[in-house]
Amino acid sequence: MTSVRELSFQTLEAVLKDGAYSNLKMNEVLQEHSLNAADRGLYTALVYGTLKRKLTLDFYLKPYVKTKIKGWVRRLLWMSLYQYIYMDKIPTHAIINEAVNIAKKRGGKQTGNTVNAILRQVTTQPLRDIERIKNKEERLSIRYSLPTWIVRHWLTHFGEETTEAIAAQMLLPAVQTVRVNRTKITVDDAIAQLKQEGYRVEQDHDITHCLIVEGHGVMQSQLFQQGKISIQDKSSMFVAEMMDLQPGHRVLDCCSAPGGKVCHMAEILAGAGDIIATDIHDHKIGLIQHNIDKLGLSGIHARQHDATAPYEGQFDRILVDAPCSGLGVLRHKPEIRYTMTPETVDKLVQIQLQILENVAQNVKIGGELIYSTCTIEQMENENVIYTFLKAHPEFEFTTMRDPRTDAQVKTLQLLPQDYNADGFFITKIRRKDQ
Ligand SMILES: C[S@@+](CC[C@H](N)C(=O)[O-])C[C@H]1O[C@@H](n2cnc3c(N)ncnc32)[C@H](O)[C@@H]1O
Repeated sequence: MTSVRELSFQTLEAVLKDGAYSNLKMNEVLQEHSLNAADRGLYTALVYGTLKRKLTLDFYLKPYVKTKIKGWVRRLLWMSLYQYIYMDKIPTHAIINEAVNIAKKRGGKQTGNTVNAILRQVTTQPLRDIERIKNKEERLSIRYSLPTWIVRHWLTHFGEETTEAIAAQMLLPAVQTVRVNRTKITVDDAIAQLKQEGYRVEQDHDITHCLIVEGHGVMQSQLFQQGKISIQDKSSMFVAEMMDLQPGHRVLDCCSAPGGKVCHMAEILAGAGDIIATDIHDHKIGLIQHNIDKLGLSGIHARQHDATAPYEGQFDRILVDAPCSGLGVLRHKPEIRYTMTPETVDKLVQIQLQILENVAQNVKIGGELIYSTCTIEQMENENVIYTFLKAHPEFEFTTMRDPRTDAQVKTLQLLPQDYNADGFFITKIRRKDQ
């Protein structure tokens, strides 16, 4: 039988070496192996913890690696060090034994000996002091396990205090929130049934059909399986909430897969509207349709379409939930911090502008274009919308209520520390009357 640590290590290999997405890979592994609650917890903590702390762990490990070691051995050492430094309850000898077993199984006795020697040394010496790193960007990079280019951007845009707050929040586990499908169940009944199933449930203050659910994975709940709730981060729920959807509206969600926001819109409209959901990837249309069917929603049609190519017809609302760097969702997808580059951000900005440019023609006079991203990169957020507006005087901002302050704002940059949720950007522009 494969041990939990082996499973965790295999998942880390899949993510860090083969480029799998951590959240998808972890769901797949958890569905394949029926682990008990404690093992599920350990598995999740090891994978997410090691991914989130990779640069910090490597900083601590470096002085003890004096010969060339294979990539997988280094990754195994990171996972072991994560347990040693950040998890209280695991005895050091158990951490070393498990690592040596995995190393022997995969690389033979010699590799087992190397892993043993390195781990014994690290665990008997004091850890290096991060605070001694003189350069501020490098120090923050190691302290929060973020590449220096991200630290630099955040320092420029948010200042030191907020950068540290964002970075620290990104290291915390994500909170489990669900959206109640009010076309199938009332919020009160959903709360009662989840509690009956053994979950601790709290209703959100800002979005009353958002529930914070603690306990085991909510995917196993009956309510989830019956399509009465969907898993969605609170920040992401603000998008459909801010769209001011009205009965009879024609809506286009042009970057729609896997369909979280479009299903939320359909729940708000409850059949009293007409929504088109498109995505560039044909294989993702099935995911949207699966969600529509599971949630039993009507009035949505999903189809493949490249949002940079012309659409037919005019819409009251168009949502561009743009492909973006995803730097706001590092709690759910921690590896993005290592794979994203400034060059990719530049390319994404071009695509974001191209999509806005294209769909703008399909907004009715008086209709609204909503632009959102799950990033906190200003280049992809404020810069994109101001660039677009400069070239399109026929559009103007419509203000939204900032749920944090109640003030009317043009753009909403949610940071993870605001709601213990993802970083998200939302703005709305209106096509002026002529
Ligand atoms: C941020 S995700 C959308 C998430 C979705 N709105 C939700 O709430 O579940 C961005 C989506 O844009 C899609 N995409 C990327 N380029 C696109 C394009 N040119 N046209 C349409 N969709 C595109 C991606 O396949 C991805 O599914």
